[in-house]
Amino acid sequence: MRVEDAPAAGVVHVQVWRETYAADMPAAFLAALNPTVSAEKIRMRVEVDDPDARVLVAVDEDGEVLGMATAGVTRDADAPTAWELYSINTVALVHGSGLAERLLSAAIGSRAASLWVLGINARAQAFYRRHGFVADGATKVHEGSGLPEVRMVRGPQPPS
Ligand SMILES: CC(C)(COP(=O)(O)OP(=O)(O)OC[C@H]1O[C@@H](n2cnc3c(N)ncnc32)[C@H](O)[C@@H]1OP(=O)(O)O)[C@@H](O)C(=O)NCCC(=O)NCCS
Repeated sequence: MRVEDAPAAGVVHVQVWRETYAADMPAAFLAALNPTVSAEKIRMRVEVDDPDARVLVAVDEDGEVLGMATAGVTRDADAPTAWELYSINTVALVHGSGLAERLLSAAIGSRAASLWVLGINARAQAFYRRHGFVADGATKVHEGSGLPEVRMVRGPQPPS
């Protein structure tokens, strides 16, 4: 990701949330998501330039943003792994295309890592299971929507 990608990434981030959670999250919560706020958070992540963090964007041949992923040092006090996949978001058009897999691989490679996923997000959980993650029993409530989140963890993977 470059700083100049942040505005488009912010728009896509909000688009993906609305696509993914329309049936499960309060309409007012989704309507209030602001692409400019998302873009600003993304820009700050890029600008921090933390050597231990990954902030990735996937674009098509016309430069349109198709997805993004972020990863870095875990935010959990009881961290089961040193690394965390913070987010992975791809537009519905590319689901099932392998792009998410490429983003995951670029973000965390074969590292041991943990992540948080909404309990209602069955597709994401299936995707993570295919990539070696299993629920470790930790749960929390997603701020904003109030929905439960579950933690998934995987150990180190053999390099592919
Ligand atoms: C989650 C995401 C990154 C996965 O990428 P993808 O390209 O859609 O994933 P794939 O198609 O490779 O795999 C999806 C898996 O879910 C399964 N699946 C599809 N729809 C499903 C559903 N409604 N319920 C349960 N499983 C489902 C597929 O069969 C596949 O599992 P399999 O490989 O065991 O057959 C992508 O869907 C995405 O960006 N979604 C929107 C944002 C999001 O949810 N991000 C994750 C937040 S933690």
